[in-house]
Amino acid sequence: MSLSVPAAPVAQDDPALTEEEDFVCSAADSPLAAIEKCLDNGVGACLVVDGRHYLGRVSLDELGRGALSGALLAPTLGQHLRELGRHRSNASPTDILQPDLDPGGNLIGITIDRSAQLLQIARPDMSHREFRAALDAFLSSWISSKGPYVEKFEEGFARFSGARHGIAVSNGTVALHLALVALGIGPGDEVIVPDLTFAATINAVLYCGATPVIADVDGRTWCLSLATVEAACTPRTKAIIPVHLYGRPAEMGPISAFAESRGIAVVEDCAEAPGACYAGLPVGHFGDVSCFSFYANKIVTTGEGGMCLTSSPELASALRVLRDHGMVPERAYWHDRIGFNYRLTNIQAAIGHAQLARASETLARNHAIAEAYRAALRGIPGVRFPPDMDEFCSPVVWLTSVLVPAERRNALLAAAPRANIELRPFFHSLSALPPYQLYARHCPNSLELSATGVNLPTSRAVDSDAIDRVAEVFRNVMA
Ligand SMILES: Cc1ncc(COP(=O)(O)O)c(C=O)c1O
Repeated sequence: MSLSVPAAPVAQDDPALTEEEDFVCSAADSPLAAIEKCLDNGVGACLVVDGRHYLGRVSLDELGRGALSGALLAPTLGQHLRELGRHRSNASPTDILQPDLDPGGNLIGITIDRSAQLLQIARPDMSHREFRAALDAFLSSWISSKGPYVEKFEEGFARFSGARHGIAVSNGTVALHLALVALGIGPGDEVIVPDLTFAATINAVLYCGATPVIADVDGRTWCLSLATVEAACTPRTKAIIPVHLYGRPAEMGPISAFAESRGIAVVEDCAEAPGACYAGLPVGHFGDVSCFSFYANKIVTTGEGGMCLTSSPELASALRVLRDHGMVPERAYWHDRIGFNYRLTNIQAAIGHAQLARASETLARNHAIAEAYRAALRGIPGVRFPPDMDEFCSPVVWLTSVLVPAERRNALLAAAPRANIELRPFFHSLSALPPYQLYARHCPNSLELSATGVNLPTSRAVDSDAIDRVAEVFRNVMA
């Protein structure tokens, strides 16, 4: 059978994934095998053949519905298709995966064409590993926050980020809140946050009743710098939250040294940069507590989820007690402080544990996508790429970022959906947002970035054809 894959994925590490067998199931295969193949091929669908004869197409959506109706219990895919009353006419012209058939109805090739699908900014990439782990957690009946995967994920993620202790929590926002509470931050304390970040960073400070002090970001790193931190520091400063924005590490060496010299705590917000390094050490290694998000668009995802990392045993046990209603582990139902229910479930942790095993692959894929965008967009008038960082910094690609002239950006953002592409503007400057007016500062670098930054789709669905489509939108608008 010939293979015709016109839009070969640009970022697949495993060349075998462009092999036809990754998209074709035999009628004798089990529906479970089809689910795993649909997950692993990144298309979410497979073609089913009996010998060479084409029987029909199965997708994850259909298999999911089959699970609900019981149709998935059929021992073979052939039977499964019959039970669903499926025939080979089931393919729609907008399906990504299309069969190439000879006049006799035999499969002679496949075509992968994503052009009719919305190219989303990000999409979780779930493989058979996550599927198996989640099923294992589900079948074990440990579906709440007790269960072996929580600890495994905590240990694995702490190791990945160069910290001693991991405390898994419900999301990245509560990770920040928990970190500040564990550090004793409260009313009267000031906490320095960057002007350019997702609102969760400043909200966590406000949840504690503390006062956020907004500081500008550096024009080159896009993050807090020693200079911006020093300028924002007062005798009431109790903590600094450097955010590693869009995968770019803040200058943690000088910031940590300054904080230490003043007795100020550092909480790293690593939500967008797991795997990035500063001076050869992973982000998350530097803060008294470091916080991560595992939201569905993140490099490692659990759907919703987060983690606090620390190398201090005292902070680790305070974080654990606070995460669990303030209950001490040694005495049943003894609450020695007011805590929270910020726990992560075993099922989520199972997904996270499997995702973590693929984190390097995900980072390599995102890097390859950003490089391919760079090649495709180079030379288009007005398009700039993120500034090079200095030798201490090893950024990662979360979402591919570019900068365009502010006066062209709205036109670009409006043109993209017409081409079935989702582009995202950078975050707004916090100082421009209504809830934070009391704390607004003049932050020219942040304003400039927030007016010119655009994030591009960065996921497994981004193949060379998708990159051409994005480049075409840029060319049309920027020319
Ligand atoms: C920089 C930053 N901090 C914190 C968060 C909050 O994480 P979550 O959405 O998991 O609460 C995000 C998430 O999107 C983020 O980008």
